[in-house]
Amino acid sequence: MNKEIVLTGITTTGAPHLGNYAGAIRPAIEASKDENSKPFYFLADYHALIKCQDPERVRQSSLEIAATWLALGLDVLNAVFYRQSDVPEIPELSWMLSCVTAKGLMNRAHAYKASVAENEETSGNDPDKGINMGLFAYPVLMAADILMFNANKVPVGKDQIQHIEMARDIASRFNHIYGEHFAIPEVVVDDNSATILGLDGRKMSKSYNNTIPLFETEKKLRKLINKIKTNSLEPGEPKETKGCTLFGMYKAFAIEEEIIEIEQRYADGIAWGEMKKVLFEKINEEIAPARDRYMTLMKAPDHIEEQLQEGAIKARQISVPFMQEIRKAVGISRIK
Ligand code: TRP
Repeated sequence: MNKEIVLTGITTTGAPHLGNYAGAIRPAIEASKDENSKPFYFLADYHALIKCQDPERVRQSSLEIAATWLALGLDVLNAVFYRQSDVPEIPELSWMLSCVTAKGLMNRAHAYKASVAENEETSGNDPDKGINMGLFAYPVLMAADILMFNANKVPVGKDQIQHIEMARDIASRFNHIYGEHFAIPEVVVDDNSATILGLDGRKMSKSYNNTIPLFETEKKLRKLINKIKTNSLEPGEPKETKGCTLFGMYKAFAIEEEIIEIEQRYADGIAWGEMKKVLFEKINEEIAPARDRYMTLMKAPDHIEEQLQEGAIKARQISVPFMQEIRKAVGISRIK
């Protein structure tokens, strides 16, 4: 049976937080154990360069993200876990795809458009201020990531849906010109996966500076949970679970019966201090074993590098011959 190819990338510009964990990493790691699928998970370090020109940060983030995924029990026998930059066929394919991609299509990319719109509001007459070609061509590189391995399913956050649609467009265009080489990928947006709110009640996000890093020390985790904003209802006053940051987080870590029990305690007027304690215990219970493994792995970067190298070997067993096929298809090959 042909396994379904599931592929996703993680941009290496920061440390994973609880929102990334519950929304994307945990489901991806679960999926890595599914025998019916072949996951490709990679560190998108070329994508990182678009918005981060701090080499130390890109390096450190790659290490932290790799350690996180391994600590959480990614099945590296089933999954191919690699670093984008270890597969030079990806940027090569990106160029080939660039040459069949309409510039107009890229003009419509949300991320680029948002930057232009911001410039038009703030810096008057230069709509392209601070916009590099990497940002403009970002969807093409992403299409190359996906099409290189003929991914069938691409799980991403809502903000990435347009990029998958563009990858489909680009694949169809290439296939139309040069023959059927690429599978048309489908986007997977898991609406059931938890969206976790941050310390200030907005969506947890690096750009809002309201995150709880996944593998902080126990002490720091407790401290950050204590900082989560609540309303000023007193102990004993009934509280709403809807829209409550603490409850939303609890829900992402608890089982059905525990959730029902907490709903009752909200109705009975649980004190915020108590709820924060309950929440800390719940989260800590789930992540503590992985945190220990993470700390150990961070002290063994050689081991992490080895895993990535093995992943790259597996990835290149596919990308090298496939790129030869693509080169031939476009007319780039030896004369004889
Ligand atoms: N751009 C994606 C993000 O920021 C990361 C990414 C890069 C990706 N290449 C990809 C995701 C290919 C899915 C498939 O979230």
